[in-house]
Amino acid sequence: MSNEIYECDVPLEDYTEGIVATKEEIAEMCKRLGERISNDYKGEPLILICVLKGGFMFMSDLSKNISIPVEMDFIAVSSYGASTKSSGVVRLVKDTDTPVTGKHVLIVEDIIDTGLTLSYLKNLFSTRNPLSVKVCTAFDKPDRRKVEVDVEYSGIVIPDEYVVGYGLDYNGLFRNLPDLRILKKSVYVK
Ligand code: PRP
Repeated sequence: MSNEIYECDVPLEDYTEGIVATKEEIAEMCKRLGERISNDYKGEPLILICVLKGGFMFMSDLSKNISIPVEMDFIAVSSYGASTKSSGVVRLVKDTDTPVTGKHVLIVEDIIDTGLTLSYLKNLFSTRNPLSVKVCTAFDKPDRRKVEVDVEYSGIVIPDEYVVGYGLDYNGLFRNLPDLRILKKSVYVK
């Protein structure tokens, strides 16, 4: 699949069908969540933990809409591998290196699907003596939930479609699309 994409001289958008969230809707969502977070954590020590790789674009846009001092760090976990379906196994690939003890932790995710990644991360940070551990996600796919997780800051609820863009990938590609789009089935069903 990857080679075909590199070799074909067609816009990335042509591998997708239908926009689930436009650039404008995403920008508005980042502004809304950024304002809420700035208000809720005013005067408190806050660290944003971006979940790589998918969370990088949301972390960037969200943080620019937060008007209070925040620390930032990055963690990488893997649950999907190269498959389009969750394996159900969460693996820690890269840990944070900023202490979170005595701080409020806000986990910044691109999407919550089964909830397995978030459940793992909430438990992990809870063992590190933070003041609190909460979650902020750009997109939420509640129809796919396997474990219940509290999502304190939820951006846009989306249907159960294979979506790419705004940090979300298929086989490592399409993360750079600025909006959230449905991937054509022909790309991943052979
Ligand atoms: C995706 C996404 C979330 C997780 C959500 O990551 O970025 O971290 O899956 O799925 P869940 O709710 O079913 O656990 P992925 O493993 O695809 O890695 P990536 O961000 O590096 O693409």
